[in-house]
Amino acid sequence: MATNHQLSVRDLHRSFDGTRDVLAGVDLDIAPGEFVALLGRSGSGKSTLLRALAGLDADVAGHGVVAVPERVSVVFQDSRLVPWLRIADNVSLGLPSTGAAGRATEKAVADALEEVGLAGRERAWPVELSGGEQQRAALARALVRQPELLLADEPFGALDALTKIRMHGLLRDLVARHRPSVLMITHDVDEAIALADRVVVLTDGWLSLDLRTDSTDGAGADGDLRERLLGELGVVAHS
Ligand SMILES: Nc1ncnc2c1ncn2[C@@H]1O[C@H](COP(=O)(O)OP(=O)(O)OP(=O)(O)O)[C@@H](O)[C@H]1O
Ligand SMILES: [Mg+2]
Repeated sequence: MATNHQLSVRDLHRSFDGTRDVLAGVDLDIAPGEFVALLGRSGSGKSTLLRALAGLDADVAGHGVVAVPERVSVVFQDSRLVPWLRIADNVSLGLPSTGAAGRATEKAVADALEEVGLAGRERAWPVELSGGEQQRAALARALVRQPELLLADEPFGALDALTKIRMHGLLRDLVARHRPSVLMITHDVDEAIALADRVVVLTDGWLSLDLRTDSTDGAGADGDLRERLLGELGVVAHS
């Protein structure tokens, strides 16, 4: 296994019906602490790639995923909180709950909930939380595991515009503090540019574009970057 990158993928393939390759040779490296946004048209295979990286796709296991960190957390578009568990129990699900380790878990859960602005909501039921609050709980659940890699599949896709902007700020803060590598799927080009160090586009089964957002590679100002990304997605840019 390679050790110089947090995440390393080489020539990753995945097909479901044996004829068409949804993923047809994906190469991707994400350095420690790097934030990469993944764009692509609907059905292009973004979630398929993320599931492979998360180890959720048994048929891909071991093929193409060269190196993946040990601690990986995943956040989805819906919070996937367990309805019959209180928020604190959702966040701590699967972590040690007894003895000294249990007390450490309790402290880590309280800290994580405080970080996402849900202090005092430990005993609430998921249904009592708004959509944005539920996504914050999902972020707390991801962070409490101290992931080296955070995988997020359209984590803000179901939120209203205002909540989304607040969540951007929160995610930026959390990433700055914990420094995980991040791979975030989004449909929103502006969100990708605002949050990520690098934006990659999945087209026809491989990464057809890979651009840094700091414009050192000649992509120019944000406006040019935005247009290039929209162009790659087959969308005409309106600024
Ligand atoms: N379990 C499965 N069985 C069969 N086909 C699948 C399966 N999962 C995904 N696919 C197919 O693979 C293709 C890519 O799906 P995927 O969910 O990865 O797309 P996506 O880029 O995440 O799309 P969206 O932006 O709409 O979420 C689609 O054509 C889909 O129908
Ligand atoms: Mg998807």
